[in-house]
Amino acid sequence: MSPFLLTRTLPEDTAGADLRADVLAGLTRTAKELPPKWFYDARGSELFEEITRLPDYYPTRAEREILIARAPDIAAATGARTLVELGSGSSEKTRHLLDALPALHSYVPVDVSESALTGAAEALLAERPGLHVHALIADFTRGLALPGSPGPRLVAFLGGTIGNLLPAERALFLRSVRALLEPGDALLLGTDLVKNEEVLVRAYDDATGVTAAFNKNVLNVLARELDADVDPADFDHVALWDPEREWIEMRLRARSALTVKIPELDLVVPFEEGEELRTEVSAKFRREGVRGELADAGLDLTEWWTDAAGRFALSLATVGP
Ligand code: SAH
Ligand code: TRP
Repeated sequence: MSPFLLTRTLPEDTAGADLRADVLAGLTRTAKELPPKWFYDARGSELFEEITRLPDYYPTRAEREILIARAPDIAAATGARTLVELGSGSSEKTRHLLDALPALHSYVPVDVSESALTGAAEALLAERPGLHVHALIADFTRGLALPGSPGPRLVAFLGGTIGNLLPAERALFLRSVRALLEPGDALLLGTDLVKNEEVLVRAYDDATGVTAAFNKNVLNVLARELDADVDPADFDHVALWDPEREWIEMRLRARSALTVKIPELDLVVPFEEGEELRTEVSAKFRREGVRGELADAGLDLTEWWTDAAGRFALSLATVGP
């Protein structure tokens, strides 16, 4: 069996300082919000995999279609020896890339979800005994330090996860990715595209309730990790399209007036009936916007590929002059 390394750059206790700080800041604001990374405990990672199989959740299938069609082009353009993947989750779609990169030496999946990383690494190593897998439990918004491995490097950020960052966070994030790259390295970026509102909303509010369960999972995380007195059944899942900002916004809406109590943070959070907590945005993009955001971070958009239906895009970017 080839080497599998797991490096933890986050405290083992996921209820560590980060979660406490995010909950304190987010639930005491006038417009309540929580950062989306707290969806992804083991159950959340499983629920997300279920989402990717929902008929209405098109992004995964559209992105896979592009990866299958373009993997040979990506391999030829990058010659990557190391593939770094941010927010890798199950690494399910990544297989198409791994299979197409003839010179690949190392795969470095990076995720906050330890269960997703170990599950993915086990499956990959069983199928590809020669691959070096160095998984990193890390927050990709917190400055990344990558293990030493041969270049050129290809950094992949798939799934449209970049859309879950707010515009200012995106700008910082892209700069930090740029700082990881040397001449000859590249970024492969997946972005969901602006389209018909009904199609977008259905992707985030399916009839079977899987999406709702995923959104509410953040409350289970608070209950377990912080001993919060909160019942997910007291909240409704809400997904709406913001046409100005061109993003889908996920919220949890209190079904009645209630309080969420978190004694260890000395926190009693009142919700009015109908009051909403924002749990995630999922921004949708256009080509010129992506090009501009990359350029602002010092990256040149060199390829733009979409699926046949034009729903989703993969961009290849290199270090600018
Ligand atoms: N790339 C996969 C998974 C997308 S879901 C796909 O395309 O299907 C988003 C993934 O990013 C989850 O696995 C989640 O655990 C991870 N994630 C979310 N926020 C993160 C953060 N701040 N740092 C690292 N990983 C994060
Ligand atoms: N990263 C996914 C996306 O933006 C997250 C996601 C999919 C999600 N479905 C959801 C988040 C439903 C909350 C609720 O597409």
